[in-house]
Amino acid sequence: MPPTPQSPLRIAAIVCAAGSGSRFGLNAGSKLDQDLHGKPVLVRAAEAIARQPEVVATIVAGPADPELMEAFRQRHGDAIARLGATILPGGVRERFETVKAGLDALTGLHPDVDAVLVHDAARPCVPAEVVRRVIAALRSHAAVAPAIAVADTLKRAEATQDPRRVLETVDRAGLFACQTPQGFHINLLARAYAQAHLASTDDAQLVERLGVEVVLVEGDPRNVKITRPGDLELARAIWPTLVVDRD
Ligand code: CTP
Ligand code: MG
Repeated sequence: MPPTPQSPLRIAAIVCAAGSGSRFGLNAGSKLDQDLHGKPVLVRAAEAIARQPEVVATIVAGPADPELMEAFRQRHGDAIARLGATILPGGVRERFETVKAGLDALTGLHPDVDAVLVHDAARPCVPAEVVRRVIAALRSHAAVAPAIAVADTLKRAEATQDPRRVLETVDRAGLFACQTPQGFHINLLARAYAQAHLASTDDAQLVERLGVEVVLVEGDPRNVKITRPGDLELARAIWPTLVVDRD
């Protein structure tokens, strides 16, 4: 049953941390292990979610490979345990598989939650207000994503040439760049994943495929995803600008 406006929401979270970080670079170590003002990127991301009062259970989905998982537990196990979160193996190839593994575990471990937040461990700078806006919207909507209006002029161009030939300019009006955490009433997300056949980098897309409405709330440009090495420098510059009660 969807929560009523009066009842407190009970939310579980899946923090996706099973990726290989290939675009970040193989020699730089895992991007999620990198230091962000005293704590690893992954721990910062998990804290931002787990510290919200409505979040009653957090799963951190780490590497599927058993050896990598053991190293992951050694590096991050204590910090994750301090958050009251649980570590599980994610999916080998696709983020999609990681969310599915987390969701399967959640429905067994915490059958009583109303909703799920799915967050990228590679987004450590998510402002608390963004998480709160997603949670607030879950009171009246079953699928919520934070997003920001696209500010740059958009061109469609050839995929491979250098320099690339421009094919067209795309009207950016009504276009939004999506972030995480995305939030869903748990039964809806379970249904979306049970029926999903195509891989997806975005959970909301699977809900859209069911024909269910997804709403966007305001994201934040500081909620960057660490993808390439320069993004870590960006995150380090952003961190001091966040008003956080995080140590
Ligand atoms: N992720 C995951 N399971 C996967 C793939 C990705 O949990 N099988 C997670 C990543 O750890 C990251 C988030 O999903 O926190 C967003 O993915 P992305 O930025 O693409 O990270 P990677 O897949 O690790 O990096 P790359 O695509 O460059 O290899
Ligand atoms: Mg990836």
